[in-house]
Amino acid sequence: MTAQRVHTRRAGDPLVVVCAGGGGVGKTTTSAALALGLARQGRSTLIVTIDPARRLASAMGVALSDAVTTVPFAGTNGRLAALMPDPRRSMHAFVDQLFEGEPAARERLRDNRVYQGLADAAAGVHELVALNLVAAAASTGSFEVVVIDTAPSRQAIDFVTLPGRLAALLGGKTVAWLSGLATRSGEKDSTQARSGGLLAWGKGHLEHLIARAAGPYLVRDTAGLFIELALVRERFVHLTERASALLLGDRAAYVLVAAPTAAARDDVIFLAKRLEKLGRAPRALLMNRADTRPAPYVTALRSSANLSPALSDALDVLDEERKARGDSAAAMTRDLSRQLPSCPLIRLPFVEAYAAADVVHALSLELEAHHRALLPQ
Ligand SMILES: Nc1ncnc2c1ncn2[C@@H]1O[C@H](COP(=O)(O)OP(=O)(O)O)[C@@H](O)[C@H]1O
Ligand SMILES: [Mg+2]
Repeated sequence: MTAQRVHTRRAGDPLVVVCAGGGGVGKTTTSAALALGLARQGRSTLIVTIDPARRLASAMGVALSDAVTTVPFAGTNGRLAALMPDPRRSMHAFVDQLFEGEPAARERLRDNRVYQGLADAAAGVHELVALNLVAAAASTGSFEVVVIDTAPSRQAIDFVTLPGRLAALLGGKTVAWLSGLATRSGEKDSTQARSGGLLAWGKGHLEHLIARAAGPYLVRDTAGLFIELALVRERFVHLTERASALLLGDRAAYVLVAAPTAAARDDVIFLAKRLEKLGRAPRALLMNRADTRPAPYVTALRSSANLSPALSDALDVLDEERKARGDSAAAMTRDLSRQLPSCPLIRLPFVEAYAAADVVHALSLELEAHHRALLPQ
């Protein structure tokens, strides 16, 4: 697979904004806020969360599912849709994607015990399924912008290279060799007969050992697995190349999200370095919870006529705490702009609200002035 092919862009591809950062900094909230604001301004927008947490789903009133779901919101002609795949059934969803045109092979695979074992244990598959769902949604041509909320981990950026790496692996010699071996018997009708090649290869010592360790079905089902995979190899490579083109093409931007804590700062610096390795510069840095304004109730109480001395003291304490938080946020912000000098930094306020949806709404208004700075150029 050449870089040329990976980066090929198709007409109608949406702009993609990938949000990455440490856990708890407000990635999910700010991603949703950005998507909401874009939709409000009339852009057809899809918000995707790869992060298995359910907060965004509940904040937006969307169920976890592999289907793109319209999010109802008042007062615009834009469209907001959400895609929040449930990580628990991802392997099956992936197989459905992969075996779309091969229903019989898909059923054989589902009965395959080696596959069943893999489906329970597979790591990284959730990301892959989610990306393929994103690519499929993007290729419908119905979205102008896709905002992707990544998992809260330092490896979150690496997932964008996963499709390409897997395609290279599955398109590579090892799989061809294994599936060739598995089909060598020449029989095409039943999985049992078709796996004769590998069975023959495994006869004797190796088969004996594996069978003793893991049960007699293992060799046959392992061979069967590769036969089924060989059937859909082309399709797999196609799906994953489509996802890579979307994420690594020139219409994708990476936005880092931080909060004013040392851990969040270190995560952002780490992610910026990972991006650099991928040949990308972060488009912008969102410093969440950077500005602390007085809570509305504090302002209201201060202006009330008969403020008791005790209440006045309590409000002074609140003010001092807010000022201390503000000072540390300012120091962290200065530190980050020194370390990432060419990355535009956007400050977001701490929102005094109880409901997650209210925080999303308030931040979407704050972000409206910055859409241009956050979207790919
Ligand atoms: N700017 C903000 N002001 C107030 N609360 C916020 C802000 N940003 C996020 N939150 C709240 O912090 C919590 C964690 O945010 P979340 O977006 O889920 O973080 P992450 O996705 O990075 O783990 C949520 O309850 C959210 O409502
Ligand atoms: Mg999150």
